[in-house]
Amino acid sequence: MLKHTRPKGTQDFVPPQSGQKWLVETTFRELAQLYGYQEIVTPTFEHTEVFVKSSGVASDIVTKEMYTFTDRAERSLTLKPEGTPGVVRAVLENQLRLPCRLFYIAPCFRYSRPQKGRYREFYQLGIEALGEASPLVDAEVVLFGVRFFERLGLSDCLVKVNSIGCRLCRPGFKERLTNFLQEVNDGLCPDCQNRQKLSPLRVFDCKNERCQNLLAQAPVPKDHLCSECGANFDRFTAGLRRTGIGFEIDARLVRGLDYYNRTTFEFVSRALGAQNSLGGGGRYDYLIEEFGGPATPAIGLAIGLERTLLAQPIKGNEPSHRKLVFVLWTGEKELEVAQRVVEQLRSEGIPAQIAFDSPKLKRQLHLADIAGAGYAVIVGAEELNRGVYAVKNLMTGEQSEISASELISWLKSHIR
Ligand code: HAM
Repeated sequence: MLKHTRPKGTQDFVPPQSGQKWLVETTFRELAQLYGYQEIVTPTFEHTEVFVKSSGVASDIVTKEMYTFTDRAERSLTLKPEGTPGVVRAVLENQLRLPCRLFYIAPCFRYSRPQKGRYREFYQLGIEALGEASPLVDAEVVLFGVRFFERLGLSDCLVKVNSIGCRLCRPGFKERLTNFLQEVNDGLCPDCQNRQKLSPLRVFDCKNERCQNLLAQAPVPKDHLCSECGANFDRFTAGLRRTGIGFEIDARLVRGLDYYNRTTFEFVSRALGAQNSLGGGGRYDYLIEEFGGPATPAIGLAIGLERTLLAQPIKGNEPSHRKLVFVLWTGEKELEVAQRVVEQLRSEGIPAQIAFDSPKLKRQLHLADIAGAGYAVIVGAEELNRGVYAVKNLMTGEQSEISASELISWLKSHIR
């Protein structure tokens, strides 16, 4: 009987899944750099107000999902439920020059009911562009997300976009929506009745079927944009069309966080069930000001790592992709050579391993198998005298003799 298990809603990434996680992160990192984003790392916990002020007092995240605790000095701290607020806080605190483009890969924490694709600890891969106002940047951020999924071979992904207006047009829209909600109030779920008072737009997020039916007739933000927001949305969608990527306008896409204005978007997987949002984001032109900084337009996105992995198992772990080379030896003298070989392989960028515990080839081959090696280079006394190594393809069992001087180039051409 095991004495310890992981907490509910958390995951272990063990090989080979940890290799897939690495691949997703590396893909993200490389792409972010190609688009001019630099890495930012912020603390795992922040002062609680950082999230309450940004995500919104009425958001599910703040009302139900935060991991908040008091430290020994009675400060209220919260594990980050998402990446954006910490980035904004850090940009201002470190007085970074604007505009600036930043990316992060970080664990986030939300206390929600765990299910497939929804965890209490999960990883977000995010980009934030601060100080850029053009709606063409919005199109570029969406394009970034699409390119990311393309690179991972995830083709089953739908892009949904919308605009939720600005400070000028939103109050008028909210009033219209509130009037509508008051009329249907009795039929709404208790959560939506509450949302109606605190943050009416959030009702569009409700998953309750009855609420969704009642909301079919509700006014939507996009039909009530001011002329500037309308023109902005047109330019955004024209920019998206120019990139050639497919997208759909979803007039009910409001997103579950309070800081958004104008552009909102989401990447939805057709392959996932209820938790089908692979990632999302939008503009947050007022947040930096609300944090005490100068009025600064901003936009960003965050992609969920676990959902990306679930949406399509990523290639790279098939046996034919085994890159590790195990160097085997048969006696003390051969061990010395084998150690040199293993270091030489590593310096040539070939992953290589050696086991020191036993000179028995059978044992070493067994260890090579456990390690998932693709090839074994055997340093034997007789072969050493002839200046060759026996090289065994552990995937096919084929064995050949390769001269010591050709070992590196042979392995490089055989390892994919
Ligand atoms: P979000 O939609 O709350 O946006 O989260 C982004 C992504 O994180 C989701 O689409 C999903 O893939 C993943 N995610 C969220 N909660 C969970 C969970 N409990 N378990 C697994 N994955 C989850 C944001 O967080 C914004 N900060 C995005 C953004 C960046 N907006 C502007 N910049």
